Amino acid sequence: PAAKPWGGRFSEATDTFVERFTASVSFDQRMALEDIQGSLAHAQMLSEVGVLSDGEYRKIATGLGDIAEEIKTGTFPWSVQLEDVHMNIEARLTERIGPIGKKLHTGRSRNDQVATDIRLWLRGHIDRIAAELTRLQSGLVALAEREADTIMPGFTHLQSAQPVTFGHHLLAWNAMLTRDFERLMDCRKRLNRSPLGAAALAGTSYPINRARTAELLGFDAPSENALDAVSDRDFAIEFCAFAALLLTHLSRASEELVLWASSQFDFIDLPDRFCTGSSIMPQKKNPDVPELVRGKTGRVNGHLVALLTLMKSQPLAYNKDNQEDKEPLFDTADTALDCLRAFADMVPALQAKRSNMLKAAARGFSTATDLADYLVRKGVAFRDAHEIVGQSVSFAIEQDKDLAELSLHQLQQFSGEIGEDVFAVLTLEGSVAARSHIGGTAPVQVRKACAQARSAIALR
Ligand code: ARG
Repeated sequence: PAAKPWGGRFSEATDTFVERFTASVSFDQRMALEDIQGSLAHAQMLSEVGVLSDGEYRKIATGLGDIAEEIKTGTFPWSVQLEDVHMNIEARLTERIGPIGKKLHTGRSRNDQVATDIRLWLRGHIDRIAAELTRLQSGLVALAEREADTIMPGFTHLQSAQPVTFGHHLLAWNAMLTRDFERLMDCRKRLNRSPLGAAALAGTSYPINRARTAELLGFDAPSENALDAVSDRDFAIEFCAFAALLLTHLSRASEELVLWASSQFDFIDLPDRFCTGSSIMPQKKNPDVPELVRGKTGRVNGHLVALLTLMKSQPLAYNKDNQEDKEPLFDTADTALDCLRAFADMVPALQAKRSNMLKAAARGFSTATDLADYLVRKGVAFRDAHEIVGQSVSFAIEQDKDLAELSLHQLQQFSGEIGEDVFAVLTLEGSVAARSHIGGTAPVQVRKACAQARSAIALR
């Protein structure tokens, strides 16, 4: 078995179960390239301040480059005995370039090393997630523009409330995602500090240059306190909080897609390539993709709670508990990216069944508020108008008719203020067009909002 880099003070071999129990290499090898990136910056800085000679640095850099190739081609000999990604790579370096490899860890600890690796890894994933979020939003805004005039029922309590445009509804989703994007960028800002040089917890006695390694790794600055730098996992929790909210939004949208794709609503068609069938019921076309996004929200929420709980009782500074941060974090990033991809692919392919939406919008007395507003314009107080319209709706229900199907004479039983011009007010088109201000459902406002959203996205 490989010798432990920390074996000096030990007098017996590690229990084989303990070896497996304490190892993280099976999952932290995902950060191998980031680990090498961090080591390269550290070694370059050490050579610049004279702790390593130029020749030593060049040997180390070449060796690390070769190891990166082994990792990419899948030939790297990973070993559980060497516990984690850091010791695996360091031991391999010495194997390849000889004793000079043993100098790499000068002025460094695995504690600042792992903190650096996770930040680099997550930063890369944040940038990928941001790009996918932007792709989804671009598709969403394009669809909203196409459906700016499409009338559908708007709901509260899942009961018919007022007609809205489909574009307006899609822009509501977009507004949620814009907040998610802002949160993600905010998280990236606080993540982008370099823990390197914090060493185990107190810093190091070598004349290191932390600003230099921060710069080489694309961090904005070194983290301000060494003890905090090695124990801080706020950035991982913030990222998981971002992801939990993102997934909450995607889950709500998924729930709507599932409802709309049902034969009871029948508002949209999801292309076959995003659906699956049933092994027994031949007629079935199930909206599996949105269902699964809704389902995956559970694990992402769970990971957020797992990380909060992981951190809550840890005394400063590093504790082995922290090794448990990686699997929830990796899975959160993978899940967020997959769900965004599913949505970004699916949204532009949604087919609105416009006439079904329109028919549904006409049901359920959705323009009752418009009738009340009409009476207010004729001088009736809003509370009285509300009562008058309530009675008219009750009468229409008895007659099994919609408000617009009642005759002028029938409507006038409830108020003498009602005139021939009432019927224009009761139309769905009139109702949506009337709500014309910032954030309103009127088609002109939807188009304006789409143009604004598009330029905001272009500025990212
Ligand atoms: N595998 C460890 C982790 O993921 C690396 C840091 C280990 N540091 C230590 N002092 N044991 O947290």
